[in-house]
Amino acid sequence: MVATGAQGSGGRLLLRSTSRRAGLRAPGVVAMKIWVTGGHGMVGTALYRRLAMDGHEVLAPASRVLDLCDRRAVDAWLASHAGIRVVVHLAGRRGGLGARLADPTGFFLDSLAIVTNVIDATRRRGINRLVFVGTACVYPVDAVQPVVEEALMTGPLEPHNEGYALARICGTRLCADMNAQFGTRFLTLHPCNLIGPRDCFDPESGQVAPSLIARIERARRMQAPSVKVWGSGRACRDFLYVEDFVDAITFFVNNPDLVPRDRPWLNVGGGRDVSIAELAQRIAETAGYRGRLEFDVSRPEGVSRRLLDIHRVTALGWKPLTSLSTALARTIAWYRDTLPDSPTPSLSDSTGV
Ligand SMILES: NC(=O)c1ccc[n+]([C@@H]2O[C@H](COP(=O)([O-])OP(=O)(O)OC[C@H]3O[C@@H](n4cnc5c(N)ncnc54)[C@H](OP(=O)(O)O)[C@@H]3O)[C@@H](O)[C@H]2O)c1
Repeated sequence: MVATGAQGSGGRLLLRSTSRRAGLRAPGVVAMKIWVTGGHGMVGTALYRRLAMDGHEVLAPASRVLDLCDRRAVDAWLASHAGIRVVVHLAGRRGGLGARLADPTGFFLDSLAIVTNVIDATRRRGINRLVFVGTACVYPVDAVQPVVEEALMTGPLEPHNEGYALARICGTRLCADMNAQFGTRFLTLHPCNLIGPRDCFDPESGQVAPSLIARIERARRMQAPSVKVWGSGRACRDFLYVEDFVDAITFFVNNPDLVPRDRPWLNVGGGRDVSIAELAQRIAETAGYRGRLEFDVSRPEGVSRRLLDIHRVTALGWKPLTSLSTALARTIAWYRDTLPDSPTPSLSDSTGV
């Protein structure tokens, strides 16, 4: 996938706030050639559209074209694409908890290879700027909430996420070390749970929000009297609409001078958390499902609370704009539109941002 826009030489700071989905190219942005890994995923698709809209030339080879686990292939691909100014590294091996438990070694090795091959090749090609996307799972299970960036590597990780999280910790560390040793401007963004179109809506193996949407939508279509929600419903999570996360990425792509010199990693979250019970209730209301929510305490629910402290990133000029209600309404509307056999009752999207 390649979008062609004007190509410039720069990458200098020209913008402090983004155009924020106004459907307009952000003013003053210097167009660049940008390599987006994972450009066909949930975040990548939205990011690709935004960067192209800002006039950047975006290169986003799919995994069947470029396997990022293959170090030599990554080097060769970069060598044949001159002029890349910025890399946005989103790619990560797909698969929910089931896939991770079935093949923890393969999952860990692939995750690590994808992270390190791209970061290392970027630096060796002399590309000075990279935005690496990590995850809130990098923080210890017992971290004080809301979790600050300083909590990285201060305690044990969630056991079932260890391989995935360790790979992202290595990437975070690698970016920081390269900045210190080689003067690069590599930045890691650690997002909370994202909500939005093109997520994995598998009722069994998806993340909490998309799998709840899938189960509640199925219950609504089948007019089932109740729907199961995994766990007690008391665990709390932080959610962010995917377009808000794309805002954060483009904000740092367009504002390279904002990469912190000390601890070059930033939390990106919604700034507040909700219980899974409240999330399920709001999905049911938005979807128009009137049955009962039954909490299945025999199912795992992970850590009791995970909320990211976003003071550092908001002090730099980014903040979340989309309410949870709007994020859910838009996501459910997209989900219905993509299900061919689903009738599409109108959704209220009146909550604003
Ligand atoms: N979604 C969330 O809630 C969330 C939360 C925190 C962090 N994150 C992180 O944010 C990033 C983007 O998330 P997402 O939801 O957009 O992920 P996604 O939809 O699962 O997309 C993953 C992307 O990685 C690519 N990929 C996987 N293995 C590859 C390989 N061996 N070589 C080349 N490309 C490969 C896939 O390419 P193909 O499609 O071409 O196969 C796909 O485009 C991921 O790193 C994820 O861990 C996501």
